[in-house]
Amino acid sequence: MKTILPLIFLLAAIPCVRAQQTGLIANTEGRKAVSLNGQWQTIIDPYETGYYDYRYQPSANGYFKDAKPKSKSDLIEYDFDTSESLLVPGDWNTQKERLLLYEGTIWYQKSFDYQRKPNTRLFVYFGAANYVADVYLNGEKLGRHEGGFTPFNFEVTTLLRDKANSLVVKVDNQRRRDGVPTLNTDWWNYGGLTRQVKLIETPATFVQDYFIQLQKGSREQISGWVKLNGDQLKQRVTVRIPEARVNRSFTTDASGYAEISFNADLNLWSPDNPKLYEVLVETETDRVQDLIGFRSIETRGPEILLNGKPTFLRGVSIHEEAPFRGGRAYSREDAITLLGWAKELGCNFVRLAHYPHNEFMIREADRLGIMVWSEIPVYWTILWENPATFQNAQTQLTEMIARDKNRAAVIVWSMANETPIGEARLAFLKKLVERARSLDSTRLISAALERHYLDEQTEMIDDPLGEYLDVLGCNEYVGWYDGLPEKADRLEWKTKYQKPLIMSEFGGDALYGKHGDALTRWTEEYQESLYQHQVKMLKRISFLRGTCPWILMDFRSPRRPLPGIQDFHNRKGLISDRGEKKKAFYVMQQYYHELGAASPK
Ligand code: GCU
Repeated sequence: MKTILPLIFLLAAIPCVRAQQTGLIANTEGRKAVSLNGQWQTIIDPYETGYYDYRYQPSANGYFKDAKPKSKSDLIEYDFDTSESLLVPGDWNTQKERLLLYEGTIWYQKSFDYQRKPNTRLFVYFGAANYVADVYLNGEKLGRHEGGFTPFNFEVTTLLRDKANSLVVKVDNQRRRDGVPTLNTDWWNYGGLTRQVKLIETPATFVQDYFIQLQKGSREQISGWVKLNGDQLKQRVTVRIPEARVNRSFTTDASGYAEISFNADLNLWSPDNPKLYEVLVETETDRVQDLIGFRSIETRGPEILLNGKPTFLRGVSIHEEAPFRGGRAYSREDAITLLGWAKELGCNFVRLAHYPHNEFMIREADRLGIMVWSEIPVYWTILWENPATFQNAQTQLTEMIARDKNRAAVIVWSMANETPIGEARLAFLKKLVERARSLDSTRLISAALERHYLDEQTEMIDDPLGEYLDVLGCNEYVGWYDGLPEKADRLEWKTKYQKPLIMSEFGGDALYGKHGDALTRWTEEYQESLYQHQVKMLKRISFLRGTCPWILMDFRSPRRPLPGIQDFHNRKGLISDRGEKKKAFYVMQQYYHELGAASPK
């Protein structure tokens, strides 16, 4: 009996999507929560003395104990209370000059009281922590999370006390060869509790997760599932969308799972009409409110169809770098500024590179009507044959989809960026594609591929991974790493796939305010000319259905030391890190206004 049940489940679930046990609580915005943001006490621990003993064995008496001397003779060699503090959310690198280049461990500690209520459960939730987080409450280990850009939560119901709780997190951002990403990236390795931390309160049996979206290819059939967590798992679940007069009930099975499927007459979400519906998921013991948009996204040959209509993705690539102040972006305000600039550029699409950005970015994109490409940091040359590296990548993929699967704005899941062609790599990425499709069959799967020359004038996109993708992404730097800007005038683009292409990166560096002739590198005129030649070339590519210039805003990178120009910033932004628009910004804006004006409403 036990083994047959999952099989029946599987068969039933194939047409739509599958619930995946990440343990992640969905839609934490719609839950009762207490913020733990603010100043946290910290201990900088480059030798991990708070974790290992002198034999480099994990110590039972580490800093996670948050111990205090009980007598004047007691020997305790650390004290969070009198240590310095750091702001959470926030990276540590931009909060203290001496931590700018720091890579290693910092211990975070937060004391708080909490009046517990009967029949409630409590979870501590982290929006993200870069890179490995070991989490403790009142001296007890809650767990570990690896991956700097996806959320995680741990249950603390039995460990929490009314007074003087001590939450301790060891955050280690050391880069690792077997990591995801691996040792070298063209972005700053910001460490810390980089996103919000909160305590989530739920009923004893609660709605842990749900997936409510249009079935693939349909514009009226909603399908998905609801997953309960607790001891009263067999319950009546009602999904209500008042504005669409939807009020449908289902019954969860013994594992607290229910498939849902029903028709609805909907006002579809699109950039011109970012319609979000209030959706309520109600059970006998819990009620969760969410704002969800409904749209269909598909391909047909080289076309990308949004709600059945061919669409061109007028995009820009964005790093999760905070405008003006620098460092990791984390707030709603950061998101509104960055997406506001993208809108000003004429965008209806953004590529969030090279890792899942914070939830405010996605929720604001939902609200503003900006379609999103979301990516996991399988970047350049990771260890394709290392099973732990694969597990890590797959977990980050699963968590990315788990958090954002109900966001209409997200239309593309990207598996990787600029990875080298090879058997092990192909096998690795094929498995990720399969995983993504098993978790969510409603969105497009892509990756940022590289191209090669067939001859001096012909660029070819025939990466074997293209076979398994819905949309081809391609990064090219004609005019910057590859020749001078006018080279683009002579190039023709080909692909072996009958699939749409998104030019996921192109561009060149310019220091805002540096001027000269169009052949002088680093000047705004060089970048402007590069974009003028690029736009002419892009217009000639018959299967092009989207463009994402690299990049919206200058960002910090350890690979860019050139004094007086880069100063450890990648200067390929169309906008400087101080919000100043470069000449190239207006070249892209003009192109997008033409496209926007030309596109059918
Ligand atoms: C690469 C890469 C980016 C990088 C960019 C650049 O294509 O994907 O992460 O920043 O090129 O060199 O500026």
